Amino acid sequence: MDLSKMVVEIASEMAAETDRGHVADYIPALARVSPDQFGIAVVTADGTVHAAGDAETPFSIQSVSKVFALTLALDRIGEALWHRVGREPSGSAFNSIVQLESERGIPRNPFINAGAIVVSDALLAGHDARETIGDLLRFVRFLAEDDGVEIDSEVAHSEAGTGFRNFALANYMKAFGNLGNAVEDACKVYFHQCALTMSCCQLAKAGRYLMTEGIHPGSGTPVITPERARRISALMLTCGHYDGSGEFAFRVGIPGKSGVGGGILAIVPGKASIAVWSPGLNERGNSKLGSLALERLAERTGWSVF
Ligand code: DON
Repeated sequence: MDLSKMVVEIASEMAAETDRGHVADYIPALARVSPDQFGIAVVTADGTVHAAGDAETPFSIQSVSKVFALTLALDRIGEALWHRVGREPSGSAFNSIVQLESERGIPRNPFINAGAIVVSDALLAGHDARETIGDLLRFVRFLAEDDGVEIDSEVAHSEAGTGFRNFALANYMKAFGNLGNAVEDACKVYFHQCALTMSCCQLAKAGRYLMTEGIHPGSGTPVITPERARRISALMLTCGHYDGSGEFAFRVGIPGKSGVGGGILAIVPGKASIAVWSPGLNERGNSKLGSLALERLAERTGWSVF
């Protein structure tokens, strides 16, 4: 299997696509990104990087960051996190508030916005927001083995300026006693994690610990236990694309986490950590060409986990 050739072919097929979806425009800083871009990077278990297209171009990873925040929060507060957030797909939009009322402020899973805000709150545990944001940035740089990973403060401020739904989710959960810190602090951490800016190459490298049962390939040290690595991948498969998770599992069959910046991190256990990026989104807020590229890659490699 010639992966280098395969990613180049997929990138040129994606370049020829005319129906590229719509760029997220509810955050001004994201609305300016050109939909003409596409990048793909595949890191295999032996550490080789196969990349094509705009794989070195930094983009806003948005909700893909929820994977890294969850990993760090589990490390920080352990299994107690699961008293405050569930593990079921929501079947609702990423920013939906409806289920929180009947489910007493406990979000369905850590990959919808409400769940990610609880995770941000858990990350704060005894630290202030600035420190927590710094910890998360250092953690992602360590995972990617790249100090070039940044937080785009313009995107973070744009998130905060337009984040009325997120503040509403946080206030609602606070009313149910499911936030230990100030709403402003939990949201500040959440907005900054969404504003992490990475290229496909950096993102695929950062995801390697999920392919290697929790081991950081660069240092050989454990990032998380093998059990938690498997569970995070399970949540990516069932909840990583919001109300499009079933469709993604059906078409691609690989655990994946998407973001409204058009990025997707996908993990093939034991085999590959993959990042794709194309800013145009489908009707569920997931990258249109990113999903298509992963579908083609899964078909050609046989990497579906089923
Ligand atoms: O909470 C927000 O509005 C965004 N920053 C969420 C990011 C995201 O990627 C959700 N979806 N795909």
